[in-house]
Amino acid sequence: MQDKGFFAGKRSWSRLKDRTLGDYLPPYLAKVAKRRRRIVIVDAFAGAGKFDDGTAGSPLIICQAAEKHAKGRYDAVFINKDRGSHTKLSHLLSRWVEAGSVVTLRGSAEEWLKDLGTQLGDRTVFLYMDPFGLKGCEFSILQPFLDRDRRYSTEILTSLDAGAIHRLATRNVVLDGRKDPSTMRSYHDRLSAVLGGDYWKDLMWDTGSSAEERIIAVMSGYRSQLQSAGMLYTGSCPIRDGHDGKIQRIVTFCSRHEDALVIMNDNMHRAYHEAVEGSRWDCTLPGIRESEMNNHQAALRDVVLRTVTEFPGQSRRQVRVRIAQSHFMEYADRDYNAAVKTLDEDGRVGWEDVRGTRRHNDDMKLFPSDT
Ligand SMILES: C[S@@+](CC[C@H](N)C(=O)[O-])C[C@H]1O[C@@H](n2cnc3c(N)ncnc32)[C@H](O)[C@@H]1O
Repeated sequence: MQDKGFFAGKRSWSRLKDRTLGDYLPPYLAKVAKRRRRIVIVDAFAGAGKFDDGTAGSPLIICQAAEKHAKGRYDAVFINKDRGSHTKLSHLLSRWVEAGSVVTLRGSAEEWLKDLGTQLGDRTVFLYMDPFGLKGCEFSILQPFLDRDRRYSTEILTSLDAGAIHRLATRNVVLDGRKDPSTMRSYHDRLSAVLGGDYWKDLMWDTGSSAEERIIAVMSGYRSQLQSAGMLYTGSCPIRDGHDGKIQRIVTFCSRHEDALVIMNDNMHRAYHEAVEGSRWDCTLPGIRESEMNNHQAALRDVVLRTVTEFPGQSRRQVRVRIAQSHFMEYADRDYNAAVKTLDEDGRVGWEDVRGTRRHNDDMKLFPSDT
C-alpha cells in the first residue's frame, strides 16, 4: 500500500532527492571507472524503478548513469522487500539483468546487506539507502561497509526521514514529563540504533531551538558518527517540502576520499539552490537577488580568508576541501575560485606559483597577505 501511494507521482522533494543522486553519479562513475576495480552499486530500498507518471526512480537513474559512464565495469544490485515492486523492477531492468550487469533481489535490505557487506573484496562500492522511514538504515547495517579495508573505495548515501526522527524522539512527551517508559525506551533505542548513538537526546530535547535547528544539529551529530567510523568526508542536505518548506528528509553522504566531498558539495549546492531558492528568487526584484548574491560572495571571501589564515601554505585544492567540509553545500566551486581571485586582486591573500604558470590553479599555495 505504501509503495502504491509513493510511486503514484513524484513529489517535489523526491525530485530534489533524486537529483542529489543523479547529478553525483556521472562525475563519480567517470572517476572511479578509471581505477581497475569493478564497481558495485547497491540500491538497498530500490522500489519499482519508475513512478506512475513515468519519471525515473533511483534504479533507472543508477542504471542509466552506469551504462553511460561505466559500461561493462559495474554490477548494480537492487533490493526490494515488496513483491510487487520487485516484480515491476525486474521487468523494467530485464535487458540489463539478462546482460549480467544488474541483479534484483527480493527480501529485506537488513538481511541482504549483512552478507553483501562482507563479500565485496576489493571492489569500489557505492551504497544508496532510501527507506520510507528509518527501519533498515540502522548503523549496524552500515557497519560492514564502514569497516571495509581503507584501500578500497566505499561511499554511502543515506536518505533519512526527518518526520520519523521527530516522532521517535517523543520530545513533547519527554518535556511534559509524561511517562510510558517501555514504549518511550523502545522508540529511543530505535533512534539511537539508526543515528549511531544517543547524542541526539540533548539535541532533540533542547528547549531553546526550533524543530528545524534540532534536526540539523542531529544530522551534524550523525556526520560526526560517520567520521568517527572512518568516513572522513561527509555532508548533509536537507530536502524540503515544496509547499510548506518543512524538512522532509536529510540526505547524507560519506566517503573516504576528498574528491568525492568536493563533487558532492558542488552537486548538492546546485540542486538545492535551484530547487528551493530558484522559486523564491523568481518572485523577488532582480536588485534584491543581486544584493543577496553580493552578501553571499562577501561571506565566502571571509571564510576563505579565515581558512587561509588558520592554515597558511595550503594549496587552493586543500583549502577548498576544508571549506566544503566546514560549510557543506553553502558555496559552489566556481564561486570559491572567484573568491580566491578577488582576494588576490585586493591584496588580501598572497600565493606561491607552484606550477610556475603565473596563473591561478589548484596547486597554488595560499597565504594571508601579511605572512
Ligand atoms: C522510499 S522508497 C524507495 C524509492 C526509490 N529509492 C526511488 O527513488 O524510486 C522505499 C522502498 O523500499 C522498500 N522497502 C521497505 N522496507 C524495505 C526493507 N526492509 N528492505 C528492502 N526494501 C524495503 C519499499 O517497499 C519501497 O519500495
